[in-house]
Amino acid sequence: MTTQQIERKWWHNAVVYQIYPRSFMDANNDGIGDLKGIISKLDYLHQLGINVIWLSPVFKSPMDDNGYDISDYQDIAAEFGTLEEMDELIAAAKQRNIHIIMDLVVNHSSDEHPWFIEARKSTDNPYRDYYVWRKPLADGSAPSDFHSYFGGSGWEFDELTGEYYFHQFSKKQPDLNWENPKVQQEVHDMMNWWLDRGIGGFRMDVIDLIGKVVDQKIMANGPHLHTLLQEMNKATFGRRDVLTVGETWSVTPEIAKLYSDPARNELSMVFQFEHITITFDPVEGKWKPRPFSLVEFKNVISKWQTELSDQGWNSLFWNNHDLPRAVSKYGDPGKYRIQSAKMLATALHFLKGTPYIYQGEEIGMTNVRFESIEDYQDIESINLYHERIAAGVSHQEMMQGIYENGRDNARTPMQWNGSANGGFSQSSPWLKVNPNYGEINVELALEDKDSIFYHYQQLIALRKQREVMVYGDYQPLFEQHPQVFAYQRTLGDEQLVVICNFSGQVVELSLTDEICGLYGECLISNYRPVSELGRTLNLQPYESFVIDVSSSL
Ligand code: NOJ
Repeated sequence: MTTQQIERKWWHNAVVYQIYPRSFMDANNDGIGDLKGIISKLDYLHQLGINVIWLSPVFKSPMDDNGYDISDYQDIAAEFGTLEEMDELIAAAKQRNIHIIMDLVVNHSSDEHPWFIEARKSTDNPYRDYYVWRKPLADGSAPSDFHSYFGGSGWEFDELTGEYYFHQFSKKQPDLNWENPKVQQEVHDMMNWWLDRGIGGFRMDVIDLIGKVVDQKIMANGPHLHTLLQEMNKATFGRRDVLTVGETWSVTPEIAKLYSDPARNELSMVFQFEHITITFDPVEGKWKPRPFSLVEFKNVISKWQTELSDQGWNSLFWNNHDLPRAVSKYGDPGKYRIQSAKMLATALHFLKGTPYIYQGEEIGMTNVRFESIEDYQDIESINLYHERIAAGVSHQEMMQGIYENGRDNARTPMQWNGSANGGFSQSSPWLKVNPNYGEINVELALEDKDSIFYHYQQLIALRKQREVMVYGDYQPLFEQHPQVFAYQRTLGDEQLVVICNFSGQVVELSLTDEICGLYGECLISNYRPVSELGRTLNLQPYESFVIDVSSSL
């Protein structure tokens, strides 16, 4: 099947905006963002032009991992609001043609979920098998050496029944046992309950882990994973026209096709992280960043663009609530912040797939550097800080890792204006605001017609107007160039050339015969518009532009 024959879906030309509710907008001034706050900003999002919101979890939760530990899937956390307000948000978003997709966190629940409270009561409790319990080894130790992603053993001993339960994340996030059909049924019922309330789909948290076979130490990509998803699809969203996106750190292009080939009835698309993990140390992971290589980065992007061109669908993102800010990671948060943020936006939005914008990205928010670990709130950074310091890593080295890749970089409150706390809240926020809110905020962005915000607005509008941006084939250009990321998109006789300087230097680029001499309308740029491709191009720091060269072919 060729690209042009792919069955059109509404989410193909959609642009998704991710909201991290705790940090978006605080309407009741308790220092924590809330649903009313989100409702108050829907006009802003409508102005930006997005048509889907991915809402990070708002469910009832003890907030050990900021809501990724759910104690009631069918209620809203009191600090975020009420179910009525959630209905109000869904309806108010719908009026602006915005779909809300909810975060489905079902690899694990909270240890305060009634299922787990029951399960831990006795070995023959009807809910016992909702979770993964094992007896201690002969010497009393944990059943395996599995290390949790948030530090420490992945097994927690429970005094009352003398057994261990399994948790891949914190000990307050016990893993659900997906081998139990009752768990599957409960989750399907809950999903239908939300779909009936009018939501537009699900983002599925670490969905590649639900097929785990703990005794064989298989966590990701378990043997029944795809069957479980096909059953979920059939029992829930398969009958509805919604967007589903799986979070899958372990995915390869071959596996991505299994998830997202429409013929297989699983998901719309998945998030792959290969372009992210290439900047992590192979052994020490995110805490020991590896230098960024554009050539390697482009290889990864091109691989995914090419592999999923006719089968499956890509999701496109540079950052989210678990990752550092894009402009700090791949651009220049200082002198060329505006140029580099626009360049990154252009580079991403002209790729094939569905783009995701993380809150604040559209105004070029940056990473934060707090002096003390005490100022951090993220369970992962805090636990790993203590674990690694105890293992001999220096404070400085660990803080460097946190500055580069820690999750709180993305979680500092949204910067709405230059007033106290960036206009996020009138009380002291749950996590300190980035001190640069005076220069970087929404109010300033909206007043300046050359701001990053309007660049995003233009990109989103273009995606709605130009089929070639959505369905065109991708061909990389200058693959070995260490500073320039460039590619073409082609659909029938339409062709776009995208040129992005990923560096803070002026680059003199000699053009190959393939594109030399082409000209046409400049669709977007971050310096002066460029409409002709001569023998050489003199690219300014972080310069980017796109030319529709169709008429010159
Ligand atoms: C992935 C989520 O994005 C992250 O924030 C969370 O901590 C883990 N899954 C556990 O749910």
